[in-house]
Amino acid sequence: MSDKKQSNAMWGGRFASGPDAIMEAINASIDFDQRMARQDIEGSRAHAAMLAQQGIITDSDALAIREGLLTVLSEIDAGEFEFSKALEDIHMNVESRLKDLIGEPAGRLHTGRSRNDQVALDFKLWVRDQMDAVVVGLEALMKALLVQAEAGADVVMPGFTHLQVAQPVTWGHHMMAYVEMFARDRSRMQDARVRMNESPLGAAALAGTGFPIDRDMTASALGFDRPSANSLDAVSDRDFALEFLSTSSICATHLSRFAEELVIWSSAQFKFVTLSDRFSTGSSIMPQKKNPDAAELIRAKVGRINGSLVALLTIMKGLPLAYSKDMQEDKEQVFDAADSLMLALAAMTGMVGDMAPNKDSLEVAAATGFSTATDLADWLVRELGMPFRDAHHVTGALVKMAEDGGVDLPDLTLAQMQSVCADITDGVFGVLGVHNSVASRLSYGGTAPKRVLEQVARWNKEIG
Ligand code: ARG
Repeated sequence: MSDKKQSNAMWGGRFASGPDAIMEAINASIDFDQRMARQDIEGSRAHAAMLAQQGIITDSDALAIREGLLTVLSEIDAGEFEFSKALEDIHMNVESRLKDLIGEPAGRLHTGRSRNDQVALDFKLWVRDQMDAVVVGLEALMKALLVQAEAGADVVMPGFTHLQVAQPVTWGHHMMAYVEMFARDRSRMQDARVRMNESPLGAAALAGTGFPIDRDMTASALGFDRPSANSLDAVSDRDFALEFLSTSSICATHLSRFAEELVIWSSAQFKFVTLSDRFSTGSSIMPQKKNPDAAELIRAKVGRINGSLVALLTIMKGLPLAYSKDMQEDKEQVFDAADSLMLALAAMTGMVGDMAPNKDSLEVAAATGFSTATDLADWLVRELGMPFRDAHHVTGALVKMAEDGGVDLPDLTLAQMQSVCADITDGVFGVLGVHNSVASRLSYGGTAPKRVLEQVARWNKEIG
């Protein structure tokens, strides 16, 4: 049996036969770009209205096109639309259905545009919506963190460097560190959105068009700040997708770091935090287990998202101007990254909302590992006027003494301390407790509960 097909109804004028089955398989994007159906129809409706306003098509044709496109959209929304691989992509699937519905005027819709500016437009509209959704998702996560920070502003915990106990910090301060990170992600998304908000529609295939189109009209109808200024650039630019992916990668990196902390903190060895049953799973063989699977999967999602970024950077490198079919490979990367990021954000928001810091184990852990040694050295500087380097040395000797004796710094007697430095008085004990330590760190951006609450108030005001 011959598999010779008819040539493509939309562009097959010069073709004697249709594509090989393998050609169709590699060429068609409808399986994934149907996600841009709404954007495609929105763009076409704006284009049709402009064509009519400019006298390029009649008002009645524009009306038929605009109404017909709404019917197509309702069919797609209702799941009644039959997507065809032979029609390659969402653009031709929609237009072909429009022709079934309204007949001849459908053929006038594509006047003064090309699939090249059409796909750039649709994809931009899709990515722009995602950028807005990520901002909303980030704000929800920040709000959950702010609730944790406020409730735990004076809960002490160990602060680490090298994952070794360094100095006591507060739970609230630690939560607020992530608020800062996610706030930068939000601001990066917002910046990228401003930069990308130029309409490619009307760039046509690559050179613009001879029809008297009004690009300002379509740009403003579609919520863009202006039309893009160079038609070659407009159809070959995927910077907006790359910026979405790179910003998503950085955000996913933050999520991954936090997820890693939650995995460690929820272990029996740390017991810093209890994750809710809603965001944990059991083991099929070990009945006692409660695993932080959501955190682990969030930790891993960054791998997919970074993969998408590297894939698209690699697809775009070396492409000559203007459009090349390589660029069709942009969408799956962005769709997958967007889905992964949204899911990771939602899961993290749920986990943060539910989790409970274990104050007792946090406080015990905060006091171990000579975590107030810096407070002791600072006291020697402040009270005895010692140069910091000498104070560091004296404190080191006291830490060694405590370590040899198997005790913590506050457990050393005054006499023991004075054997290292005769001028030490019992005032020193006031700074050796973890609560005093954190309360003293009042420098701007420091861990003192007072400072943490100021930051909570600032961010509540910003995103409340
Ligand atoms: N499906 C194509 C894409 O996603 C649409 C643009 C096709 N343009 C072309 N000249 N073949 O990139």
